Amino acid sequence: MDLKDKKEYIDKIKKLAREKNAVIFAHYYTRPEIQEIADFIGDSLALAQQATRVQADILVMCGVHFMGETMKILCPDKKVLIPDMNAGCSLADSCKAEDLKKFIEDQSQIQGKRPLVVSYVNTSADVKALTDVVVTSSNAKHIVDQLPADAKIIFGPDHNLGSYINSVTGRNMILWNGACHVHSRFSLEALMKLKAENPGVEVLAHPECKAPILAQSDVIGSTKALLEHTIKSSAKRFIIATESGILFEMQRACPDKEFIPVPPEMTEGIGCSCNECEYMRMNTLEKVYSCLLNESPEMTVEKEIAAKAISSINKMLAMS
Ligand code: 13P
Ligand code: SF4
Repeated sequence: MDLKDKKEYIDKIKKLAREKNAVIFAHYYTRPEIQEIADFIGDSLALAQQATRVQADILVMCGVHFMGETMKILCPDKKVLIPDMNAGCSLADSCKAEDLKKFIEDQSQIQGKRPLVVSYVNTSADVKALTDVVVTSSNAKHIVDQLPADAKIIFGPDHNLGSYINSVTGRNMILWNGACHVHSRFSLEALMKLKAENPGVEVLAHPECKAPILAQSDVIGSTKALLEHTIKSSAKRFIIATESGILFEMQRACPDKEFIPVPPEMTEGIGCSCNECEYMRMNTLEKVYSCLLNESPEMTVEKEIAAKAISSINKMLAMS
């Protein structure tokens, strides 16, 4: 898209959003031009919290499917649009509700009572409906710390995040074996090389990365926490191990600082060897314009599922 087209789309989107009383939300991993037009940019927790606070008839969620679903569950009376219904999440896909249901039943038998089920927000509404409390990477430690000390806990779907939370809370949660395809393929070899080339430079990593990457990191946190660290810190250079979309907001907030992305493993035959989430990149200006114009695709969540899922999401918001 050339600059003229880009400007035209931005103007048209802003005009339509005003006319339709719509608010545009974007996750930090979306394309720079999407973050530029968004009224609100945030991590998963902030996006969910902000959705409940805005006065609008239409919410446009530029992110992935589970983010639109969470928004719709929290704001059932608003029209929630998502620019591309196919923008999924490999992590959410790694935990199907029917498999989790069976896992809970099996663990209930083994433990003699039903364990508490803690689910990462990167899950479908069906999985949230089976969950006691939802967490995000911003609040997972804080929430797990509040659960009864003797509670048996199932944590899913992200195994890397679950292991990390076990390590910082001293819990022994039973972990689901899911992963994000972007975060689990960062290369330890590349990180060690970057550290050697940039001695003393802090490494910032998202907790969805594998344990060896986290073990080499100085700061571990949600996208928002990593961004805030770069703003607060007096350091001028950072090595970043998370989806590279966040670099846009880091650079915008800190124009005089340098951000060095950790490259992924070069795995043959997986199509994309970049550290980009192809689902997040499905949000384009054309699709944002089209979804606002046509008020479609619209997110819907089955009433029965939404009624169950809302309690685990509200529990998270109350415990955050
Ligand atoms: P955050 O909640 O940290 O923004 O993470 C969302 C996500 O999808 C990470 O891959
Ligand atoms: Fe899902 Fe990974 Fe993309 Fe985040 S980066 S939305 S966890 S696939």
